[in-house]
Amino acid sequence: MSFERVIPKLLTWYELEKRELPWRDTLNPYYIWVSEIILQQTRVNQGLPYYIKFVDKFPKIYDLAVADEEEVLKIWQGLGYYSRARNMQKAANVVINDLDGKFPENFTSIKKLPGVGDYTAAAIASFAFEEPVPVVDGNVKRVFARFLGLVENIQLAKFQSLAFAHLMEVIPKNNPSTFNQAMMELGALICTPKNPNCENCPFAENCVAKSKSLQNILPVNIKKTKIQKRTIHYLFITDKQDNCLIQKRPTDTIWGGLYEFPNIEKGTTEFPLELLDLVGLKDSLDIKVPTKALGITTHKLSHQTITAILWRLDKSQLIDNQLNNRIKIANLNNFPLHKLMLKFVDWIHD
Ligand code: ADE
Repeated sequence: MSFERVIPKLLTWYELEKRELPWRDTLNPYYIWVSEIILQQTRVNQGLPYYIKFVDKFPKIYDLAVADEEEVLKIWQGLGYYSRARNMQKAANVVINDLDGKFPENFTSIKKLPGVGDYTAAAIASFAFEEPVPVVDGNVKRVFARFLGLVENIQLAKFQSLAFAHLMEVIPKNNPSTFNQAMMELGALICTPKNPNCENCPFAENCVAKSKSLQNILPVNIKKTKIQKRTIHYLFITDKQDNCLIQKRPTDTIWGGLYEFPNIEKGTTEFPLELLDLVGLKDSLDIKVPTKALGITTHKLSHQTITAILWRLDKSQLIDNQLNNRIKIANLNNFPLHKLMLKFVDWIHD
Protein backbone atom coordinates (compact mmCIF):
# COMPACT_ATOMS: atom_id res chain seq x y z
CA MET A 1 0.00 0.00 0.00
CA SER A 2 1.42 3.35 -0.95
CA PHE A 3 1.78 5.87 1.79
CA GLU A 4 -0.20 8.44 -0.12
CA ARG A 5 -3.34 6.27 -0.06
CA VAL A 6 -3.50 6.15 3.74
CA ILE A 7 -3.12 9.88 4.36
CA PRO A 8 -6.91 10.44 4.67
CA LYS A 9 -6.99 7.85 7.47
CA LEU A 10 -4.19 9.67 9.24
CA LEU A 11 -5.96 13.03 9.02
CA THR A 12 -9.25 11.60 10.32
CA TRP A 13 -7.44 9.99 13.23
CA TYR A 14 -5.64 13.24 14.01
CA GLU A 15 -8.83 15.29 14.12
CA LEU A 16 -10.25 12.89 16.71
CA GLU A 17 -7.20 12.22 18.83
CA LYS A 18 -4.93 15.26 18.70
CA ARG A 19 -3.82 16.92 21.90
CA GLU A 20 -4.64 20.56 22.46
CA LEU A 21 -1.27 22.27 22.59
CA PRO A 22 -0.74 26.02 22.72
CA TRP A 23 1.61 26.15 19.72
CA ARG A 24 -1.07 24.51 17.60
CA ASP A 25 -3.35 27.49 18.15
CA THR A 26 -1.06 30.08 16.69
CA LEU A 27 0.27 31.10 13.30
CA ASN A 28 2.94 33.29 14.84
CA PRO A 29 6.23 31.95 13.45
CA TYR A 30 8.13 33.18 16.50
CA TYR A 31 5.98 31.11 18.90
CA ILE A 32 6.10 28.10 16.60
CA TRP A 33 9.87 28.41 16.40
CA VAL A 34 10.17 28.59 20.21
CA SER A 35 8.03 25.48 20.61
CA GLU A 36 9.95 23.49 18.01
CA ILE A 37 13.33 24.35 19.47
CA ILE A 38 12.15 23.36 22.95
CA LEU A 39 10.62 20.13 21.63
CA GLN A 40 13.69 19.09 19.64
CA GLN A 41 15.18 17.07 22.47
CA THR A 42 12.36 17.25 24.96
CA ARG A 43 9.02 15.51 25.45
CA VAL A 44 5.82 17.53 25.21
CA ASN A 45 4.97 17.15 28.91
CA GLN A 46 8.36 18.39 29.99
CA GLY A 47 8.58 21.11 27.36
CA LEU A 48 5.13 22.63 27.83
CA PRO A 49 5.84 24.60 31.06
CA TYR A 50 9.09 25.87 29.52
CA TYR A 51 7.24 27.06 26.43
CA ILE A 52 4.70 28.92 28.56
CA LYS A 53 7.43 30.53 30.68
CA PHE A 54 9.47 31.46 27.63
CA VAL A 55 6.75 33.23 25.64
CA ASP A 56 5.49 34.89 28.79
CA LYS A 57 8.93 36.31 29.52
CA PHE A 58 9.77 37.11 25.88
CA PRO A 59 6.41 37.72 24.16
CA LYS A 60 8.01 39.24 21.05
CA ILE A 61 11.14 38.24 19.20
CA TYR A 62 12.51 41.69 20.00
CA ASP A 63 12.27 40.89 23.75
CA LEU A 64 14.41 37.82 23.20
CA ALA A 65 16.93 39.67 21.06
CA VAL A 66 17.61 42.34 23.69
CA ALA A 67 17.43 40.10 26.77
CA ASP A 68 20.42 39.31 28.91
CA GLU A 69 21.89 35.94 27.95
CA GLU A 70 21.72 34.93 31.60
CA GLU A 71 18.03 35.67 31.75
CA VAL A 72 17.46 33.40 28.76
CA LEU A 73 19.58 30.62 30.25
CA LYS A 74 17.74 30.94 33.55
CA ILE A 75 14.43 30.25 31.78
CA TRP A 76 16.07 27.34 29.97
CA GLN A 77 17.55 25.94 33.18
CA GLY A 78 16.94 22.19 33.45
CA LEU A 79 16.08 21.65 29.77
CA GLY A 80 19.61 20.78 28.67
CA TYR A 81 21.29 21.43 25.33
CA TYR A 82 21.83 25.07 26.21
CA SER A 83 23.29 25.95 22.83
CA ARG A 84 19.66 25.88 21.67
CA ALA A 85 18.89 28.88 23.86
CA ARG A 86 22.03 30.75 22.86
CA ASN A 87 21.39 30.10 19.17
CA MET A 88 17.83 31.35 19.56
CA GLN A 89 19.13 34.61 20.87
CA LYS A 90 21.55 34.87 17.97
CA ALA A 91 18.73 34.14 15.52
CA ALA A 92 16.47 36.69 17.21
CA ASN A 93 19.21 39.28 16.69
CA VAL A 94 19.52 38.33 13.02
CA VAL A 95 15.77 38.85 12.58
CA ILE A 96 15.78 42.18 14.42
CA ASN A 97 19.00 43.62 13.00
CA ASP A 98 19.30 42.15 9.51
CA LEU A 99 15.72 41.37 8.53
CA ASP A 100 13.94 44.48 9.79
CA GLY A 101 12.28 42.48 12.54
CA LYS A 102 10.40 40.31 10.06
CA PHE A 103 10.58 36.55 10.61
CA PRO A 104 11.56 34.81 7.34
CA GLU A 105 8.59 33.20 5.61
CA ASN A 106 9.84 30.22 3.64
CA PHE A 107 11.75 27.00 4.26
CA THR A 108 14.99 28.11 2.60
CA SER A 109 15.28 31.45 4.32
CA ILE A 110 14.13 30.13 7.72
CA LYS A 111 16.87 27.50 7.49
CA LYS A 112 19.51 30.20 7.32
CA LEU A 113 18.83 31.23 10.92
CA PRO A 114 21.38 30.04 13.50
CA GLY A 115 20.39 26.74 15.11
CA VAL A 116 17.66 25.99 12.56
CA GLY A 117 18.00 22.80 10.52
CA ASP A 118 15.76 21.04 8.01
CA TYR A 119 13.36 19.78 10.64
CA THR A 120 12.73 23.07 12.43
CA ALA A 121 12.59 25.05 9.17
CA ALA A 122 10.01 22.60 7.77
CA ALA A 123 7.94 22.81 10.94
CA ILE A 124 7.84 26.62 10.93
CA ALA A 125 7.35 26.93 7.16
CA SER A 126 4.44 24.48 7.18
CA PHE A 127 2.75 25.44 10.47
CA ALA A 128 3.00 29.21 10.07
CA PHE A 129 2.97 29.60 6.27
CA GLU A 130 1.42 26.36 4.93
CA GLU A 131 4.47 25.61 2.80
CA PRO A 132 4.33 21.95 1.75
CA VAL A 133 7.61 20.65 3.19
CA PRO A 134 7.62 17.53 5.34
CA VAL A 135 8.99 17.52 8.87
CA VAL A 136 11.19 14.49 9.40
CA ASP A 137 11.92 14.06 13.09
CA GLY A 138 12.43 10.86 15.08
CA ASN A 139 8.69 10.27 15.38
CA VAL A 140 8.08 10.65 11.66
CA LYS A 141 11.04 8.43 10.75
CA ARG A 142 9.73 5.68 13.00
CA VAL A 143 6.22 5.79 11.49
CA PHE A 144 7.67 5.84 8.01
CA ALA A 145 10.12 2.97 8.57
CA ARG A 146 7.49 0.75 10.15
CA PHE A 147 4.77 1.52 7.62
CA LEU A 148 6.98 0.65 4.66
CA GLY A 149 9.01 -2.02 6.48
CA LEU A 150 12.32 -0.24 5.81
CA VAL A 151 15.37 -1.83 7.39
CA GLU A 152 17.84 1.03 6.89
CA ASN A 153 19.28 2.59 10.05
CA ILE A 154 17.13 5.68 10.70
CA GLN A 155 20.16 7.52 12.12
CA LEU A 156 21.81 7.67 8.69
CA ALA A 157 21.58 10.78 6.53
CA LYS A 158 20.60 8.44 3.70
CA PHE A 159 17.43 7.44 5.52
CA GLN A 160 16.64 11.06 6.34
CA SER A 161 16.89 12.14 2.70
CA LEU A 162 14.90 9.15 1.51
CA ALA A 163 12.07 9.92 3.96
CA PHE A 164 12.18 13.64 3.13
CA ALA A 165 12.05 13.02 -0.63
CA HIS A 166 9.25 10.47 -0.35
CA LEU A 167 7.10 12.61 1.96
CA MET A 168 7.75 15.67 -0.20
CA GLU A 169 5.99 13.82 -3.02
CA VAL A 170 2.92 12.95 -1.00
CA ILE A 171 2.44 15.84 1.43
CA PRO A 172 -1.01 17.38 0.77
CA LYS A 173 -0.56 20.79 -0.84
CA ASN A 174 -3.80 22.14 0.59
CA ASN A 175 -3.03 21.45 4.25
CA PRO A 176 0.61 20.53 4.84
CA SER A 177 0.56 21.78 8.44
CA THR A 178 -2.09 19.31 9.54
CA PHE A 179 -0.31 16.46 7.77
CA ASN A 180 2.96 17.26 9.52
CA GLN A 181 1.34 17.66 12.94
CA ALA A 182 -0.55 14.41 12.41
CA MET A 183 2.56 12.42 11.51
CA MET A 184 4.35 13.66 14.61
CA GLU A 185 1.30 13.01 16.76
CA LEU A 186 0.96 9.45 15.48
CA GLY A 187 4.60 8.80 16.35
CA ALA A 188 4.18 10.34 19.79
CA LEU A 189 0.86 8.72 20.78
CA ILE A 190 0.48 5.45 18.85
CA CYS A 191 3.60 4.42 16.96
CA THR A 192 5.78 4.71 20.07
CA PRO A 193 9.33 3.34 20.23
CA LYS A 194 8.32 0.52 22.61
CA ASN A 195 5.04 -1.38 22.57
CA PRO A 196 3.26 0.64 19.91
CA ASN A 197 -0.51 0.74 20.25
CA CYS A 198 -1.22 -0.96 16.90
CA GLU A 199 -4.84 -1.79 17.81
CA ASN A 200 -5.70 1.89 17.65
CA CYS A 201 -3.51 2.83 14.71
CA PRO A 202 -5.18 4.23 11.60
CA PHE A 203 -2.50 2.43 9.54
CA ALA A 204 -2.99 -0.98 11.22
CA GLU A 205 -4.29 -2.74 8.11
CA ASN A 206 -1.59 -1.34 5.85
CA CYS A 207 1.55 -1.37 7.96
CA VAL A 208 4.35 -3.69 6.84
CA ALA A 209 5.94 -3.89 10.31
CA LYS A 210 2.62 -4.93 11.83
CA SER A 211 1.83 -7.50 9.15
CA LYS A 212 5.22 -9.15 9.74
CA SER A 213 5.23 -8.62 13.53
CA LEU A 214 8.35 -6.48 13.28
CA GLN A 215 7.12 -3.58 15.41
CA ASN A 216 9.76 -4.21 18.05
CA ILE A 217 12.55 -4.72 15.50
CA LEU A 218 11.83 -1.68 13.36
CA PRO A 219 12.96 0.95 13.09
CA VAL A 220 16.63 0.01 13.11
CA ASN A 221 18.09 2.75 15.27
CA ILE A 222 21.83 2.49 15.77
CA LYS A 223 23.64 5.51 17.14
CA LYS A 224 27.28 5.56 16.26
CA THR A 225 28.39 7.82 19.07
CA LYS A 226 30.26 6.13 21.88
CA ILE A 227 29.36 7.19 25.38
CA GLN A 228 32.36 8.68 27.10
CA LYS A 229 32.82 8.20 30.86
CA ARG A 230 34.15 11.12 32.89
CA THR A 231 34.71 11.91 36.56
CA ILE A 232 34.51 15.55 37.63
CA HIS A 233 35.31 16.85 41.09
CA TYR A 234 33.48 19.99 42.22
CA LEU A 235 34.45 22.16 45.13
CA PHE A 236 31.93 23.81 47.40
CA ILE A 237 34.14 26.19 49.27
CA THR A 238 32.72 28.62 51.74
CA ASP A 239 33.94 31.35 54.03
CA LYS A 240 32.68 32.43 57.41
CA GLN A 241 30.26 34.92 55.87
CA ASP A 242 28.43 32.11 54.04
CA ASN A 243 29.84 32.99 50.66
CA CYS A 244 30.84 30.39 48.12
CA LEU A 245 32.65 30.43 44.79
CA ILE A 246 31.08 29.87 41.38
CA GLN A 247 32.34 30.32 37.85
CA LYS A 248 30.79 30.65 34.44
CA ARG A 249 31.36 27.93 31.85
CA PRO A 250 32.84 28.90 28.48
CA THR A 251 30.17 29.09 25.79
CA ASP A 252 31.62 26.50 23.44
CA THR A 253 31.22 23.53 25.81
CA ILE A 254 28.24 21.63 27.19
CA TRP A 255 26.31 23.78 29.64
CA GLY A 256 28.02 26.79 28.07
CA GLY A 257 27.19 30.05 29.85
CA LEU A 258 25.86 28.32 32.95
CA TYR A 259 27.42 28.61 36.39
CA GLU A 260 29.02 25.94 38.53
CA PHE A 261 31.42 25.37 41.39
CA PRO A 262 35.14 25.31 40.56
CA ASN A 263 35.97 21.85 39.30
CA ILE A 264 38.48 19.60 37.65
CA GLU A 265 38.26 16.36 35.76
CA LYS A 266 40.23 13.48 37.30
CA GLY A 267 39.54 9.77 37.20
CA THR A 268 40.31 9.12 40.88
CA THR A 269 37.92 9.17 43.82
CA GLU A 270 39.97 10.93 46.50
CA PHE A 271 40.09 14.70 46.95
CA PRO A 272 42.22 16.14 44.11
CA LEU A 273 44.72 18.68 45.43
CA GLU A 274 44.49 20.52 42.10
CA LEU A 275 41.16 21.90 43.34
CA LEU A 276 43.10 23.98 45.86
CA ASP A 277 45.20 25.54 43.07
CA LEU A 278 42.03 26.48 41.30
CA VAL A 279 40.78 28.60 44.16
CA GLY A 280 44.14 30.12 45.05
CA LEU A 281 44.78 27.99 48.11
CA LYS A 282 47.79 26.07 46.81
CA ASP A 283 50.16 27.61 49.29
CA SER A 284 47.90 27.23 52.26
CA LEU A 285 49.59 24.08 53.39
CA ASP A 286 47.70 23.99 56.64
CA ILE A 287 44.40 23.35 54.84
CA LYS A 288 43.00 20.02 55.90
CA VAL A 289 41.50 18.35 52.88
CA PRO A 290 38.33 16.32 53.22
CA THR A 291 38.52 12.54 53.11
CA LYS A 292 34.84 12.02 52.48
CA ALA A 293 32.86 13.67 49.70
CA LEU A 294 29.64 15.53 50.42
CA GLY A 295 28.01 13.49 47.70
CA ILE A 296 28.48 11.52 44.49
CA THR A 297 26.07 11.27 41.63
CA THR A 298 26.05 10.19 38.01
CA HIS A 299 24.51 12.19 35.23
CA LYS A 300 23.82 10.87 31.75
CA LEU A 301 24.08 13.13 28.74
CA SER A 302 23.65 12.03 25.14
CA HIS A 303 27.40 11.54 24.59
CA GLN A 304 28.80 11.12 28.07
CA THR A 305 28.14 9.76 31.53
CA ILE A 306 29.52 12.02 34.21
CA THR A 307 30.37 10.86 37.70
CA ALA A 308 30.27 14.04 39.75
CA ILE A 309 31.87 14.24 43.16
CA LEU A 310 31.12 17.21 45.39
CA TRP A 311 33.71 18.17 47.99
CA ARG A 312 33.18 20.66 50.73
CA LEU A 313 35.99 22.65 52.29
CA ASP A 314 35.19 23.50 55.86
CA LYS A 315 34.69 27.22 56.26
CA SER A 316 36.35 27.29 59.65
CA GLN A 317 39.65 26.77 57.85
CA LEU A 318 39.39 29.96 55.84
CA ILE A 319 40.24 33.36 57.07
CA ASP A 320 37.58 36.01 56.60
CA ASN A 321 37.03 37.28 53.06
CA GLN A 322 39.67 35.02 51.63
CA LEU A 323 37.68 34.07 48.54
CA ASN A 324 37.51 36.16 45.40
CA ASN A 325 34.49 36.03 43.05
CA ARG A 326 32.30 34.93 45.85
CA ILE A 327 28.55 35.00 46.10
CA LYS A 328 26.17 34.36 48.98
CA ILE A 329 25.19 30.69 49.18
CA ALA A 330 21.58 31.83 49.48
CA ASN A 331 21.90 33.57 46.09
CA LEU A 332 23.04 30.50 44.16
CA ASN A 333 19.60 30.07 42.66
CA ASN A 334 19.69 33.50 41.05
CA PHE A 335 22.22 32.18 38.53
CA PRO A 336 21.49 29.82 35.66
CA LEU A 337 22.71 26.45 36.94
CA HIS A 338 23.03 23.11 35.20
CA LYS A 339 21.36 19.90 36.39
CA LEU A 340 24.31 18.73 38.48
CA MET A 341 24.52 22.07 40.23
CA LEU A 342 20.80 21.96 41.00
CA LYS A 343 21.39 18.61 42.68
CA PHE A 344 24.34 20.01 44.63
CA VAL A 345 22.27 22.95 45.80
CA ASP A 346 19.66 20.47 47.09
CA TRP A 347 22.34 18.57 48.99
CA ILE A 348 23.72 21.77 50.45
CA HIS A 349 20.35 22.90 51.72
CA ASP A 350 19.40 19.45 53.07
N1 ADE B 1 7.31 17.51 18.88
C1 ADE B 1 7.98 18.33 18.06
N2 ADE B 1 7.17 19.24 17.49
C2 ADE B 1 5.95 19.01 17.98
C3 ADE B 1 4.68 19.60 17.79
N3 ADE B 1 4.55 20.65 17.01
N4 ADE B 1 3.63 19.09 18.45
C4 ADE B 1 3.80 18.02 19.26
N5 ADE B 1 4.96 17.42 19.48
C5 ADE B 1 6.02 17.90 18.85
